[in-house]
Amino acid sequence: MEIVHVAAECFPMAKAGGLGDVIGALPKYQVLQGHVAKVVVPMYRTEFLYQQQWELVHESSQYIGSQFFHYSVIKEKSNRLGFDLYLVDINGLLDREKIYGYPDDTERFIAFQNAVCDWIYSWTHLPDLIHCHDHHTGLVPFLMQYGYDFKERLSTIPSVFTVHNAQYNGAFSWEQKYLLPACDMLHWSLLDWHGQINPLATAVKTAWRVTTVSKGYLQELTNSAAGLEHLFAHEKEKSSGILNGIDTEIWDPAHDPYLLFHYTVKTVAQGKRQNKEELCRRFGLDSERPLFCFIGRMVGEKAADLLPAAIAACVARHPQRISFLILGSGESSIEQQLDMLTEPLQGSVGVYIGYQEALSHLMYAGADFMLMPSRVEPCGLNQLYALRFGTLPIVRAVGGLKDTVIDMGDKGGFGIRFEQATVEDIMHAVDRAVTLYYDQPGHLEHFREQVMEIDHSWRHAAKQYLQLYKSIQ
Ligand code: ADP
Ligand code: GLC
Repeated sequence: MEIVHVAAECFPMAKAGGLGDVIGALPKYQVLQGHVAKVVVPMYRTEFLYQQQWELVHESSQYIGSQFFHYSVIKEKSNRLGFDLYLVDINGLLDREKIYGYPDDTERFIAFQNAVCDWIYSWTHLPDLIHCHDHHTGLVPFLMQYGYDFKERLSTIPSVFTVHNAQYNGAFSWEQKYLLPACDMLHWSLLDWHGQINPLATAVKTAWRVTTVSKGYLQELTNSAAGLEHLFAHEKEKSSGILNGIDTEIWDPAHDPYLLFHYTVKTVAQGKRQNKEELCRRFGLDSERPLFCFIGRMVGEKAADLLPAAIAACVARHPQRISFLILGSGESSIEQQLDMLTEPLQGSVGVYIGYQEALSHLMYAGADFMLMPSRVEPCGLNQLYALRFGTLPIVRAVGGLKDTVIDMGDKGGFGIRFEQATVEDIMHAVDRAVTLYYDQPGHLEHFREQVMEIDHSWRHAAKQYLQLYKSIQ
């Protein structure tokens, strides 16, 4: 089967969060299972772009509003990622350093989707399925069906749309409808949600199948989806939850190139200690104390706003006995509050504001506990990486976290779960972890070994996606 994934991120070309990890891994596993999987993302000016060799495969032009734009499609030459990676270059629009966050993002991603449809339309041999991810590609299923320039050849290709995060839907005003490629006006209501053009809603309405990244989140979407709850409830029949996997080659404590000290389930005690010592040395922390880490976007969804108060309270409760290390970036007020903790709590708290792939790997390896108090978590990959590295997850029971972490007090459990995104619940969870660390010799080691054996590889999910694709051929 030949599948084309269309997305805004793909690790290591471009990653802002878990979407990048998924698009960099799922297609690889689909290829390993005997299929042809291709990925197309915008050509941003990232390091990866300059490190690889590319060949030009297509050039053409389209309109955005009344403006003519030229685009080209380039392909990575060496198949380094284990699948064919294509980039769409649109001069002045896509070729920027960041992935998102520009005032003209709506225009940028409409032009991208327009170019992708136009390019696939030109293929002599069409793919069996087009799989789009998140709102930046949400108009593609609609354009394939109703875009005048595309429908003749693309309307019969099945489309799947995966919701990685419904908190962001890309809505924009009808006044900007001129940006869209010419399409059948009879179907314009499919673009609308609450008086705006809403790419996420459009995708949920028009894709042949909708998936999201855990069964738990699929259920939550009908109650909480930033205004799209009724739509998700209405489209329930064509929707399913497929839990993300992880790329066990990239996230592998035995071979991780970002680590100085490698380890396996047999050597986890020593390996973790060495990585923890290295990590604590860099941040001036005491490696004899339990180390709690947080990695992620500093936004309300991740409950990062609770971290400053929760950390201060936990350290006050266990003075000189615990340490926290935080890596992330996002809302500047949260960043500043966290930064301000480092001086008064020197020796107990380390903070790195920014994005650093290498440091994140060392943290998964060196931490004792990975804290995820998320208010919303469609799947969450951090807890899965933590497990792979023998680090125990402390999570709020929501979305994919609820589906993947069993509390150690329950049968077969290994992590710590709490119910509410509050400072009090975080403190209680940390208390439980501290007790485990200090008071029950051997227990922590036992759990570490247990969690490293859990198989969260993409193999399972890749099979489930394939079954879904087959059901609509
Ligand atoms: P989301 O996609 O909502 O941000 P996920 O848990 O699915 O959350 O994935 C987050 C991914 O981004 C993980 O690979 C995590 O390690 C990575 N990540 C998040 N913030 C940072 C950061 N500041 N530096 C390095 N990696 C980060
Ligand atoms: C989103 C979600 C996260 C999920 C990731 C990959 O960014 O917030 O929970 O793991 O997508 O699907």
